[in-house]
Amino acid sequence: GVPSTYSDPVHIAVIGGTGIQSLPGFNLAATLTIDTPWGSPSSPISILHHDSPSGKSTPIAFISRHGLHHELAPHEVKNRANIAALRSLGVRTIIAFSAVGSLQEEIRPRDFVVPDQIIDRTKGIRPFTYFEGGMVGHVGFGDPFDENLAKIVRKCGHALEGEGVTLHDKGTLICMEGPQFSTRAESNLYRSWGGSVINMSALPEAKLAKEAEIAYQMICMATDYDCWRGEAGEDVNVEMVMGHMKANAENARRFVGAVLDELSKEEHAEQILAKHLEGMMKFAGGITHK
Ligand code: ADE
Repeated sequence: GVPSTYSDPVHIAVIGGTGIQSLPGFNLAATLTIDTPWGSPSSPISILHHDSPSGKSTPIAFISRHGLHHELAPHEVKNRANIAALRSLGVRTIIAFSAVGSLQEEIRPRDFVVPDQIIDRTKGIRPFTYFEGGMVGHVGFGDPFDENLAKIVRKCGHALEGEGVTLHDKGTLICMEGPQFSTRAESNLYRSWGGSVINMSALPEAKLAKEAEIAYQMICMATDYDCWRGEAGEDVNVEMVMGHMKANAENARRFVGAVLDELSKEEHAEQILAKHLEGMMKFAGGITHK
């Protein structure tokens, strides 16, 4: 059987979204069932051994955001448990994956986007912070993603351009509550705000990663044009999202694999430990991490 414990620290994690419930092509080293003060994560955490071209083997933690069988709706995702469980394993770098709707003509279905900003359109019903119950803290969120990590991700994505990957280097991600999709008026409003893409999953995940001093970058894959563009018949639906996700899953996995190859390199040893974020919370009110 697969071991249920893993003793070495794991610095890098991948959070898989809709369509990426597992990461094939990696060696499964352990499956961990972890409990946290915020409950159990969305799924057991797989520890995968990633063999990079240099021959080095790097452990990667993988978690499926919507559960192993996509049983968790966006507002039911165990965000606090997910981030806390990953942090307890030693994770300091997260690559998060998400299917998104496109709010711009030039971002076509199956294109990838590395967003650099987020507009919060969740409704405050998801537990969204570790700071409560007598522990007060306010973390900076001006740049919701880690720019160093974004640079690495962009480089890897562009290197795959000859193989059918189209990448947009920047973008403003609208994170809406859901689970219903947007109205046409909302979709047009988000476009007028400069929104590039829309999903239901970036928050509070990115906020909690920031509070936990983890370098976090989301990779988005467009699956539809939401509902701003066409007639009702062309509006986003789940079939459309799943169809594009499935058709392009190979590219998504290749992209994530290339990012993990790159992050495994010695030159990124400091980056993956997120040394630049260490102690940040001291100035935000104080939190103690393992
Ligand atoms: N995920 C994929 N497509 C989406 C859309 N149009 N709106 C919100 N979340 C999405």
